Amino acid sequence: MERIVIGLTGASGSIYGKRLIEVLLKQQIETHVILTDTAQKVFTYEIQQSVKSWLKELQEKYAHFQLERNDNLFARVASGSYHYDGMVILPCSMGTLAEVSHGLAKNLLCRAADVCLKEKRPLVIVPRETPLNAIHLENMLKLANQGVTILPAMPGFYHHPTSLEAVIDFVVGKILDQLSLKHDLYKKWGDE
Ligand SMILES: Cc1cc2nc3c(=O)[nH]c(=O)nc-3n(C[C@H](O)[C@H](O)[C@H](O)COP(=O)(O)O)c2cc1C
Repeated sequence: MERIVIGLTGASGSIYGKRLIEVLLKQQIETHVILTDTAQKVFTYEIQQSVKSWLKELQEKYAHFQLERNDNLFARVASGSYHYDGMVILPCSMGTLAEVSHGLAKNLLCRAADVCLKEKRPLVIVPRETPLNAIHLENMLKLANQGVTILPAMPGFYHHPTSLEAVIDFVVGKILDQLSLKHDLYKKWGDE
């Protein structure tokens, strides 16, 4: 994997997106990041770190970090002719889930997801909401039937996490597994 798109929405769990992006950048993967307006507000509220300063830090540290504007439908990742290996939306709000499942592509995040569907590229959606209503479930089923991986932010506890970081890494590790990327973020069942 050389190039990936990561979309962050305004669902709770910005910390998962932060961690995934940092892991991908450390693995030298060109990472295009799109945040919705609400994602930026929820990030700052939940992590208690300014999203702008975090993004600036990444831009200064990694040449292969590409920040995309959600209203820029002229961006390269809006086109199927620009190759990227796949996309992850995390955390994915029920609003964005509904838009993607209905083929709405009015912003860059949803357009990039729509490109993955039409080009048959891996798309991993990490929904975060509880409880789920029938509309949420129907939208997830619709996408799963299109080959999308629905990977809810549902950490397991069989690896005996002793910190919040370990709980987060379990979910992020599961995403990396789906992208066939090697990692040691959680101890797999059967590992010593
Ligand atoms: C602090 C906070 C937490 C939220 N958590 C969730 C959530 O877990 N799941 C969800 O679907 N929406 C959640 N929302 C609501 C979404 O942010 C809202 O539906 C928004 O319109 C989503 O827009 P976006 O998909 O463009 O980011 C939350 C909102 C706030 C302010």
